[in-house]
Amino acid sequence: MKLTNLKINGIRNPLGYLMDSIRLSCVVKDASGKKAAWVKAEVSTREDFADVVHMTEGKLDTACIPLDFETAPRTRYFVRITVTDDADDTASEVTWFETSKQEEPWDAKWLTLQEEDTYHPVFEKKFTSQKEVVRARLYISGLGMYAADLNGRKIGEEILTPYYSNYRTEIQYQTFDITDLVQSENTLEVRLAEGWYKGKFDLGNKPNQFGDGFHLIAEIRLTHADGTETIVGTDESWRYRGSDTEESGIYDGQIINRLLWVEKENPWKTPIESHPEGKLIARYSLPVVEMEELSVQEVIHTPKDEWVLDFGQNFAGFPQFRANFPAGTKIVLDFGEIMQEGCFYRDNYRSAKSQFTYVSDGREEVVKPEFTYFGFRYVRVTGWPGAVKPEDFVGKVLYSEMDRTGFLETGHEKVNRLYLNALWGQKSNFVDFPTDCPQRDERLGWSGDCQVFSGTACYNMDTAAFYQKFLHDLRTEQVKFDGILPGRLPVQGFPIFSSVWGDLATILPTALFRHYGDRKALEQNYRMMKNLVDKITREDCKRGQRYLYDFGDQLGDWLALNGRTAQSMQGGTDEYFIGSCYYANSVKMVADAARALGYAEEAEYRELYEKIYQAILEEYFTASGRLCVDTQTGYIVSLFTGIYRDKGIVIRDLRKRLYRDCNKLTGGFTGAPIMCRALAENGMTEEAFYFLLQEGYPGWLNCVNLGATTIWERWNSVLPDGRISGTRMNSLNHYAYGAVVEFLYRDVAGLQAAEAGFRKAVIAPMLNSRLGYTKLRYESAYGTYRSEWEILPDGKVRVEVEIPFGCTAKVCLPHYGGEEIGELSAGSYQFTYQPTTEVRAKYTVKTMFKDMLADEQAVAVIRQHTPMLMWFLGSGDEDFLHETPETLMNMGFMGFREEDVKKLQDAITAII
Ligand code: BGC
Repeated sequence: MKLTNLKINGIRNPLGYLMDSIRLSCVVKDASGKKAAWVKAEVSTREDFADVVHMTEGKLDTACIPLDFETAPRTRYFVRITVTDDADDTASEVTWFETSKQEEPWDAKWLTLQEEDTYHPVFEKKFTSQKEVVRARLYISGLGMYAADLNGRKIGEEILTPYYSNYRTEIQYQTFDITDLVQSENTLEVRLAEGWYKGKFDLGNKPNQFGDGFHLIAEIRLTHADGTETIVGTDESWRYRGSDTEESGIYDGQIINRLLWVEKENPWKTPIESHPEGKLIARYSLPVVEMEELSVQEVIHTPKDEWVLDFGQNFAGFPQFRANFPAGTKIVLDFGEIMQEGCFYRDNYRSAKSQFTYVSDGREEVVKPEFTYFGFRYVRVTGWPGAVKPEDFVGKVLYSEMDRTGFLETGHEKVNRLYLNALWGQKSNFVDFPTDCPQRDERLGWSGDCQVFSGTACYNMDTAAFYQKFLHDLRTEQVKFDGILPGRLPVQGFPIFSSVWGDLATILPTALFRHYGDRKALEQNYRMMKNLVDKITREDCKRGQRYLYDFGDQLGDWLALNGRTAQSMQGGTDEYFIGSCYYANSVKMVADAARALGYAEEAEYRELYEKIYQAILEEYFTASGRLCVDTQTGYIVSLFTGIYRDKGIVIRDLRKRLYRDCNKLTGGFTGAPIMCRALAENGMTEEAFYFLLQEGYPGWLNCVNLGATTIWERWNSVLPDGRISGTRMNSLNHYAYGAVVEFLYRDVAGLQAAEAGFRKAVIAPMLNSRLGYTKLRYESAYGTYRSEWEILPDGKVRVEVEIPFGCTAKVCLPHYGGEEIGELSAGSYQFTYQPTTEVRAKYTVKTMFKDMLADEQAVAVIRQHTPMLMWFLGSGDEDFLHETPETLMNMGFMGFREEDVKKLQDAITAII
């Protein structure tokens, strides 16, 4: 047996983190048994566990073992877990975490510049250490952003510290282990920049969002071999002067000018004490680091005589290059997502300058920005001495440190690309907090975008700690606005009070509990969940309680294609119907959370749910069950939230709606992300696959066909001729529609949690002949799940599953006629069987004729049985192109005879 993946609060070896509670998790691998019989966790301040300060044992849940004990500040705790399984196999593993300063006062004060100094500063402190140092720590924060070096070497690998917070309320500080960097004579250097704090940020592009000064606080603690301590804190003995950063900003980029101070006075100066508004609290942001590297695929020389790097992939981060230029050389890098007419283009970045400038003083060095990042695929290089070569640059991909957990592949190349596009969307928008996009003058914490993508994100990566950070920030704001979960962070003036966006308050904690089984985390967010629905209820009561959420600043089905015009924002689905269904859904989630946590309030919320449900039925459904909101998203929301009088009628009418829409999807941010899931999970598997796989506009693969390497904000972000459709609000890296990937995980690979943390799962794959196969590996909180299916050449089906230690899964084989498989315990299983239907069939009765025309065999069949249809199709008749063998059956009025259509159906569905 092996114990792996030991984490504390979802983080490996957290050093100096904010911890409201402490939870250990670990994964058991290669065990002889099936589940744990006994689990013991011990905590000690000593590596040899000579004194155990806390111990807990029993049939503990390895995905979440609360360690409830009082911790001391700045203390390293070693944690040992021992698992014994039901076959008496046993193993132990040790991990550690170290506490922050907690409530301890700082031996340091905030410093700022003298009033006349408006430049970007570098602070410096020299200190000596006569005695041997056995342990050294730096506790530090700086506003807007800081980067610190000790003796010329960068401290840690993090970028964009101290990360985003509402700095007026809270400012995070980081803890670094600097033991290996300390010498007897030391120089600490800290550079400050603008960042989210004081640079331009948020809609309206205003500077100084949170403050207008540069501030630094730092405390170095050296522990000597004899047990004594040396403390070096920021005070007036530190000094500062202007740094080489001439400009910085999240939107605008950075200028590093090595000649900035040449022939100018730049004396060392004495800082003055300052008092930034926010409270210093231990970090709760994950580290943002360079997670991957990309190389330049091509250097393009454009018709405008410009040199452009193509990294082949849209991403967030920056390029790095080696400088060895004559003094005075000025390199300017501009960033873009798409080329237009063969030339560099960046108009969709709107007012964000998004530029990196470097001025050399002749020194040889590795160059990259220090205080910003860019969202881009293309880089225009200006001022490069000589020819630009691909190997001169490397792309550094930046995102918050998370483990990848989902690995999915199908037999369909374009679906695989779509899957990767969504994954890259996540990487690009998981830079400290979930953003809408990484490039233009926005990059905000839009809660709706986060909500719709969160299910996908939790399959893709271990997002537990990342999302807890955002939830922390949202909770901090929510209490200021009477329970409104703001539409975006930061909140400017008033928070947007909208469903789907605000429902992040309930949907995200629910998703996290489903994936990671962390009860404590759910507990921590429970109040936030309740606050949201209570706020809606209070507002509803104000005008005489109607149990509907038909007020607020509803954003509706954002960017849906059935809005008033092609570029309309709100879409065409009644926003109050959406609001009310999501209100009901959120109330249900509060009740479910209450149940999971054993809170008696559950009953109260169940009752409220019933009332909202009834109110929606009365307001939006006819007495016989027809939904009055006759749009795709209307029906999808009804099915997704399970609110209807008669599900059969909703499905029937959705089918009619789709038929009348020629099966062109219309959904925006509300409808499209859940579309395939709602279809597949309500018996419309075929329709779900149709929307996933259809390649025309609008659709997921249409974007792939037009060269997307990330997910676009709009279905028509780029037009078929390669032109961008507009610049007002048009990002090529907006992950919302990437939420379709959750359908691949949950429904196509078929792996769903039946109990928190996937302790119990359902594995029920869905086959599709065009996909051919699907392979999924998911590293759950308990270990590896695998779900694989393949349609074999002889028409048989092979399904393979793996269930991790401690878990069980109910396996449902698709098109399987044999005895039920039922619940399986940990282990690997393989099934090969003859399915009850011809799963190799290329077409079904629901396939539209437009999708058969490229196939000679299909055309021959159509010609043989329904020659009149062939005539219509040949003439390009849009109506008939969108008919199917099924709908043709209702067209007796056009002269199609039932027996001919039946023959056509049989012959079409026999094609493999
Ligand atoms: C953002 C979106 C966001 C929307 C809502 C846009 O500007 O980019 O993704 O959800 O506004 O208003």
